[in-house]
Amino acid sequence: MFEGFLSGGIIKRAIQKGLIEINVRNLRDFTTDKHRTVDDRPYGGEEGMVFKPEPVFTAVESVRASDASPVYLLSPSGRRFDVPLAEEMARHPQVVLICGRYEGVDERVAEHLATDEISIGDYVLTGGELAAMVVVDAVSRFVPRVVGKEASVRHESFFEGRLDFPQYTRPRDFRGMKVPQVLFSGDHKKIETWRRTKALEKTARRRPDLLAGRVPSTEERKPLDQNKDERKKR
Ligand code: ADE
Repeated sequence: MFEGFLSGGIIKRAIQKGLIEINVRNLRDFTTDKHRTVDDRPYGGEEGMVFKPEPVFTAVESVRASDASPVYLLSPSGRRFDVPLAEEMARHPQVVLICGRYEGVDERVAEHLATDEISIGDYVLTGGELAAMVVVDAVSRFVPRVVGKEASVRHESFFEGRLDFPQYTRPRDFRGMKVPQVLFSGDHKKIETWRRTKALEKTARRRPDLLAGRVPSTEERKPLDQNKDERKKR
């Protein structure tokens, strides 16, 4: 599952440049029985199978460079993965991610091995692998020099708790859909204000939760009030 992800784009380049290192381990390589069993029936009876603790503990112990490396269990019942957590992870020399599977993972992994349980969203995936790739991708972008310009990480969605402003490229007129005039003005101050306003409008419309609890500045008030009026009308 990881091969495609690791063999293309920014992640591949970051690995080649030695900026990040990804070590994938297969839990089956940490079993001791002939059948390489990683799961078993749950105590107390129920449908499905549960990951046994031994291969998970042994696998983590084999890769963890020090006790200072945090260990995260990917699971839909974890704490929500977000930008602050991604930035925090990127500051550690090493982070260990455990991909859960099947119906669950023996609770002793969450209680005694993992530093924290994390979820990438309120939906259930068939396994933690995709979630781990999402985390690796998002965290890598905060590792210095992985993304070309530091500014491109700073400027985009979620930085400063708001969504990104709209972007346009050529042609100026595509099937009658026009690029906003202000972008041709050459007035950088005006463009900056327009972008901030658009970003706020979009955030207020799509993700008002991101703005909740923040006291908006006067500049920010306008698009927010406009949005409120529009919502009332609907
Ligand atoms: N494993 C299954 N679903 C998941 C989710 N939403 N986040 C993280 N790991 C998961």
